[in-house]
Amino acid sequence: MHFPGSHILSVSQFERSDVDRIFDVADGMRPYAHRERMTKVLDGAILGNMFFEPSTRTRVSFGCAFNLLGGEVRETTDIKASSLTKGESLYDTGRVMSGYSDIIVMRHPQAGSVAEFSRASRVPVLNAGDGPNEHPSQALLDLYTIKKELMSRDQGIDGMHIAMIGDLKHGRTVHSLSQLVSLYNKIRFTLISPKELSMPEEIVEELRKRGHQVIETEDMEHGLEGNDIVYLTRIQEERFATKMEADIYRGRFRLNQAIYTRYCRPNTVIMHPLPRDSREEANELDNDLNQHPSLAIFRQTDNGVLVRMALFALTLDVVNQVEKTAREVNWYTERRF
Ligand code: NCD
Repeated sequence: MHFPGSHILSVSQFERSDVDRIFDVADGMRPYAHRERMTKVLDGAILGNMFFEPSTRTRVSFGCAFNLLGGEVRETTDIKASSLTKGESLYDTGRVMSGYSDIIVMRHPQAGSVAEFSRASRVPVLNAGDGPNEHPSQALLDLYTIKKELMSRDQGIDGMHIAMIGDLKHGRTVHSLSQLVSLYNKIRFTLISPKELSMPEEIVEELRKRGHQVIETEDMEHGLEGNDIVYLTRIQEERFATKMEADIYRGRFRLNQAIYTRYCRPNTVIMHPLPRDSREEANELDNDLNQHPSLAIFRQTDNGVLVRMALFALTLDVVNQVEKTAREVNWYTERRF
């Protein structure tokens, strides 16, 4: 795809070569994200960071990524404080906000909302999650992490076995990630969820059409066997009519040290988009795995900054200029990872 000026709304926009390009640029962002060097390549640029749904990581890491490239961030976070509650259309909001920003990142509870907004926008719009539909930047950072984790085991993405676990019906991260992974060859997907929360049929069909093996099961113990990656998700309680309905499924599938040791292949990479629901009744990913070397959840969050910097640099077409304004930072930067 041609990145400069493009909206990033769905992983269906990408071919494998686009993913490679994003990952190459992300690799080059490492010294800046690790605060060894700084760049002012986006000096004067404004990011409109518009979050109409709760977010910690995605909002802060997009903002931080923009700051690291030298740009400024303006945030709109509360839907109740915006004119959308006065009946303003997404189209009007998009038209207006794009006059105040050079690029917009948006999260909104409705599927398709970010695309609708982007049609009115005069600047690139990046989808940071549109309801249960998609979360393309998360899928990219997840796949980037998968690539790095497998590389350290002398493995590639082609032919990998991945299990996705939890609320696969409402989880936009797994919708985007499975479709992005399907660009690679001969993947085995094991989809572990309660029947009522299974992966949307059209996605499963698409994965099969592309020649991948898809196993759908409610049997977590068997499903965990023989994977390179296990990707856990939270029950998306905000997508249910009532909390009580979500309670039915909470805690149904959990991973902890004992289950991992018993059923997973040694070195299976453990991933989760976070936040993990650590309440006792849920606890889908137990703290007793926190020190496990294969737990990649905090490498995922760190990688999010690199990948989001890459998306800004590509869509604003400054990749080749990053170095020109770069210099070493003045302060003490040694970090403990
Ligand atoms: C996810 C999301 O918002 O879809 N969080 C994130 O962006 N890392 C997953 C979730 O909320 O469960």
